[in-house]
Amino acid sequence: MSIEIESLVYRFPNGVTALDGVSLRIDAGERVAIAGQNGAGKTTLVRHLNGIVKPTSGTVTVDGWNTADHSTAQLAAKVGYLFQNPDQQLFARTVRQDVEFGPRNLGYADSRRTELVSWALEATGLTDRADSHPYELSLSDRKRVALAAVLAMDTPIVVLDEPTTGQDHNAVGNIASIIANLHEQGKTVVAITHDMDFCAENFDRTIFLAQGRIITDAPTTEAFTKDAAVNAAALESPQILRLTKALSHPPATTVDQFIESTMG
Ligand SMILES: Nc1ncnc2c1ncn2[C@@H]1O[C@H](COP(=O)(O)OP(=O)(O)O)[C@@H](O)[C@H]1O
Ligand SMILES: [Mg+2]
Repeated sequence: MSIEIESLVYRFPNGVTALDGVSLRIDAGERVAIAGQNGAGKTTLVRHLNGIVKPTSGTVTVDGWNTADHSTAQLAAKVGYLFQNPDQQLFARTVRQDVEFGPRNLGYADSRRTELVSWALEATGLTDRADSHPYELSLSDRKRVALAAVLAMDTPIVVLDEPTTGQDHNAVGNIASIIANLHEQGKTVVAITHDMDFCAENFDRTIFLAQGRIITDAPTTEAFTKDAAVNAAALESPQILRLTKALSHPPATTVDQFIESTMG
């Protein structure tokens, strides 16, 4: 269930080049974060994974399928995609109907669907809101409905476009637990994030994107210790890394690494 992207170029009809030669490979079970300034091309890149967007040139292959030859409906069995803007994703009259749509469409048996929907609502803290109309909910709650809808599809690849934006501290903790759970199930998780602490704590590998190109693609700690790459992508390092640098400690990007290097 690998993802292979070869020399991907994407140009919008108005002439804007959003992706300018991106190549990368993601293996099954990896946890990969994508970071970069607004307009770097992050959303356009991940939209290629479920085929909403098709390459202008180059290829995107998901589990052996060239996405140019498969519909978004076909790719939906392999790749779940959380939209950056939930209002582009939700359309049903109740939260439960929105969350049920994917597994129903994928033809899952009733018992499996019921179990997945209950789990997805519980994991996102929405069980009590299952019968609400999505538009009665705040934007941050709607984003979690959209996340639940993706989780309920039980796809081997889960792509999250800014899952923590607008979420409070508890919700961010829930999303971290969800990512850990997906990882334990052996799924591949690819997420775009602006929260560098969240990135460092939850992803083994990080890709920095700027102006449609990959600036760096490395294990997360290594990516953030390359000052030139962090600057080129106009990012800020995780707080722990800034702290360890200021204290002249060995570099650490997570609380666990810091404790290990300080105690050990
Ligand atoms: N529908 C569109 N039409 C034309 N240009 C677009 C469209 N959507 C995005 N862009 C442009 O493509 C580039 C990449 O955008 P996007 O992939 O949304 O970046 P990011 O997710 O990193 O903020 C930006 O320059 C953006 O302005
Ligand atoms: Mg985006």
